[in-house]
Amino acid sequence: MEYPITVKEYDHIRTLLYDESGISLGDNKQSLVVSRLSKRLRELQLDSFDAYYEFVTGDDSGVEFTRMLDLLSTNKTDFFREPKHFDFLRDRILPGLAKEKCIRIWSSACSTGEEPYTIAITLHESVPHPEQWNFQVLASDISTRVLAHAAAGLYGEERIKTVPPDIARRHFLKGRGEKRGLVKVKPHLSDIIKFRRMNLMDDRFPIKQPLDLIFCRNVMIYFDRPTQERLIGKFYKCLKPGGHLFIGHSESLQWVKHSFKTVAPTIYWKEG
Ligand SMILES: C[S@@+](CC[C@H](N)C(=O)[O-])C[C@H]1O[C@@H](n2cnc3c(N)ncnc32)[C@H](O)[C@@H]1O
Repeated sequence: MEYPITVKEYDHIRTLLYDESGISLGDNKQSLVVSRLSKRLRELQLDSFDAYYEFVTGDDSGVEFTRMLDLLSTNKTDFFREPKHFDFLRDRILPGLAKEKCIRIWSSACSTGEEPYTIAITLHESVPHPEQWNFQVLASDISTRVLAHAAAGLYGEERIKTVPPDIARRHFLKGRGEKRGLVKVKPHLSDIIKFRRMNLMDDRFPIKQPLDLIFCRNVMIYFDRPTQERLIGKFYKCLKPGGHLFIGHSESLQWVKHSFKTVAPTIYWKEG
């Protein structure tokens, strides 16, 4: 059974989502809200979207907001998604850092972790002596649910079909017994990644040392232009001169005011 939604109820839900996460639903996504949230209302035995709104806003822990966000947005991701970015990291970024042997990368909407683990695999696969390098990867997302999955580093075997078998053997452990059908990332990958809950809407990010590279892929598409512009400005400040920003292949900064130089359609460079 689906619940009816009034104009006022829809407005409350979409304003809450926008204010807290920057995700902009537009004027006519009532049916999406109804189809994605009705089951949750039933589980909570609530009788209207008004009652659900009261429930979410009354939950100071933020757990229900995360639940709502996960239901309304997408966490879709893959290992080696949009592989050109990882080729660029290997061929164009790492060689320039071969002397200092240190790189800091932020995967800023990391979902269930496939993106930061792909970054970690690329780092290990691309340099002759990875043990001599200082690799630091920060992986963040607004959703504590996806972050917990990411930090566990445990995936169904079918999830790593996009990883070439020899690379998979070097970086994943195959589950046995109860864990049959699952793979776990090896510690040399998880050791270089720090997972943190961070909201891209925050005024300031807790980034102390400037970064070489920021991945912000497949999330900005849900933000309106002023929100994108503010975010890109904050990213610019977090990068070292000479640092790069990668965005998703279906995203563009064409209509956004920014100070980056465009290297390729989804790759941006802070001059320096
Ligand atoms: C489609 S996934 C993208 C995953 C990965 N970057 C990729 O391209 O495969 C979008 C992620 O953005 C996160 N997200 C949405 N709004 C956010 C915000 N305001 N701050 C941080 N993360 C956010 C969602 O929780 C979701 O996990």
